Formats: sequence, C-alpha cells, structure tokens
Amino acid sequence: MSDVASTFRDQYGAEPDGLWAAPGRVNLIGEHTDYNDGFVLPFALPERVVAAASRADAGWRVWSDLEEEPASFDDPGEPGAVSGWAAYVAGVVWALRDAGYEVPPANLALTSDVPLGAGVSSSAALESAVLTALIDLGGLDIPVADRPAIAQRAENVYVGAPTGIMDQSASIRCQAGQALFLDCRSLEVEQIPFDVAAEGLAVLVVNSNAPHRHVDGEYGARRKSCEEAARLLGVPALRDVAADGLDETLERLDDHVMRRRVRHVVTENQRVLDTVELLRSGRIREIGPLMTSSHASMRDDFEITVPEVDVAVEAALMAGAYGARMTGGGFGGCVLALIDADRADATAAAVADAYAEHGFTAPTPFVAVPSQGATRL
Ligand code: GLA
Repeated sequence: MSDVASTFRDQYGAEPDGLWAAPGRVNLIGEHTDYNDGFVLPFALPERVVAAASRADAGWRVWSDLEEEPASFDDPGEPGAVSGWAAYVAGVVWALRDAGYEVPPANLALTSDVPLGAGVSSSAALESAVLTALIDLGGLDIPVADRPAIAQRAENVYVGAPTGIMDQSASIRCQAGQALFLDCRSLEVEQIPFDVAAEGLAVLVVNSNAPHRHVDGEYGARRKSCEEAARLLGVPALRDVAADGLDETLERLDDHVMRRRVRHVVTENQRVLDTVELLRSGRIREIGPLMTSSHASMRDDFEITVPEVDVAVEAALMAGAYGARMTGGGFGGCVLALIDADRADATAAAVADAYAEHGFTAPTPFVAVPSQGATRL
C-alpha cells in the first residue's frame, strides 16, 4: 500500500488535515438476506482503503494510486453525471447532500489494498472511507448507525448497483475481533466475539479468481424474484416467512425456481441466527456445518455459485476444514474455510491442487483476521 500522505503532499503541496481508513469485508454467513430485511454476519478485513484529505475552497479533487489521472468535479450533479471510479466519490457527496448535509469541498488522495473484483467489497470500502473523511472534515453530526444507508444510496442511486446494506454496514460498523450481527430491517447490531485465533482456528479466504460472469444482471434478477415472492406470499419481505412450516408455505408458489429462491433466503436467515447462538456460547468449531449447508443452499437453491467456488469448497472440506462456503454476492469471488490454524498452508495447497486438476486459473489464498471498521487514523 502506498504512502498516501506523501501522495497528498506531492499533489496538493500541503499536509492533509487527516487520514481516514475503511476496510473491505467477508461475510461469515447470511448471503442475499440483506435486501430481504434479514440477518447477516460479516466481519471487516485488515485490507482497507486509506484516504488522506483536507478541506478545499471549491469542488472535489481525488487522486487514487490505482489510477493514472485524478478525478475532479465541481458538483456531483444528478446520478450518473460523474462516471467510472470517481462515481463512488461523487455518489457519496451526492448522497450526503441529498440527506440534507452541507458537504465540505475537499482534496483527497486514496490508496487501497482491498483486492478488486474479489467480492470483498472494495467499492463499499471506498465509499465508507470517503464518507467518513467528509463527515469529519465538515464536522457533520451523523450517528454511526445512520452512515451505512448514506453510502448505500451512493451505490444504489448514483452508481446504479441494486445492492443491500451489508457491505457498507460492515465497512463502517465492524469492530476488531468481532463479527457484526446486523438485523437489516431494524439496523440494530450486536458485536459477536469471533476470536478464532484464541481457539487455535483460522478463517482461510481463497479468492477463486473466477472471471465474473453476468454478476450485475443475475444479482438484480435474484433480488426481483425475492421481492415478487414476498408479494405473492403477502408479506413485506422474505424475512417474514417462518422457517417452521416452510414446505407448506412454498406450496403456495407455483414457480419451482421461485420456491428454491425463497427456501434459500428463509433457511439462510435461520442459519445466521443459529451461527450467532453458537458463537455467543463460544462454540466456534460447531458453526462449520452451518457454513457448509449455506454453500449448498447457494449452489442448489439460489444458484449463484460457479465451478471454481464449488471446487474450492469441496477441496477445503476434503482437507479437513470444519466448514466452507462462498462469501459475497456470487458468480465468482471468495470462499471462506474455517480451519485449524496450523492447517492454513495445507488447505490452501489442497485447493490449489484441485484447481490445477480442473485447469482453472490458480486461486489466491489469505488468512482473514476480524478487523476494525471505518476510523480516523
Ligand atoms: C453483495 C451486495 C450485498 C449482499 C451480498 C450478498 O455483496 O453488495 O448487499 O446482498 O452481495 O449477500
């Protein structure tokens, strides 16, 4: 990660007023439940976006060490007016203003070590770092609990991606050593201790490096299907469908594909609740089977996995993982495996071997440590 303070000095000829950071995330369990008003359990990664920033006289100017050219805009305009990576920055300015806040003009320099296109929320990290910096620079009085919805509006309305509220919540509200149990309807959170190292465990993340296939269209299609199912079942959201008696409820839907979509969401919500129960009583190893059944549900019912992630999950389990699952929106991205800490290299090697056998591009493994959410450094 580059020294963003010195980039700032080089570009703007002055010291920044401060440095702000916001991380990427992995989701321990609870996939495609957020936009169904359900439950999620992400934790923040140590990989993060760092923003060096100062107030300016007018407009916004942003250097990113991932880009050749700076982005600058005098006004974010209407959604879509600024495009490319700068849309995430303009979107945050737009969303803050739309929520009634006076946003300070600013100069920014950004750096990031959050892997791009890996399904670990590099865009939410970018939005959250910029949002946190602008809030502090402007002295804006915005409770932490209200911030993720502002970053989410930047993504939904300005950038135009119909995502839920999990990623921005994770980037902003997670704490080191904890997983964030979030009720996506009430937006209430509970920090759940997730100190895997103390139990001799580790979470191995394997970036499947699968080429992203139709992610945007498929994500939107899943979301539509869930909303339509809720309408047909006469409930505000699939969160309101009880896990008890689910089979009878599903019979009220004619469409077999839709039945499977609903079954994923309802059983996944229950798996989040069961995982939280186990973690509250310190039984970390026992969440493994819930992770693995979450994966089966994403593969068979929600149909959002790809061969690369299925092979990675199988190989990790064969290598002795307590549980393994894809994390994130799907159609590629990362796999999580809960393993004994001393099995990280062996598990990563087992996945790499399985990939070689299938002729897939080699995966990228790393060990994930639950880390701090957005903060001023
Ligand atoms: C993406 C979205 C999230 C969530 C996940 C799936 O990461 O940004 O809002 O829907 O997919 O759980």
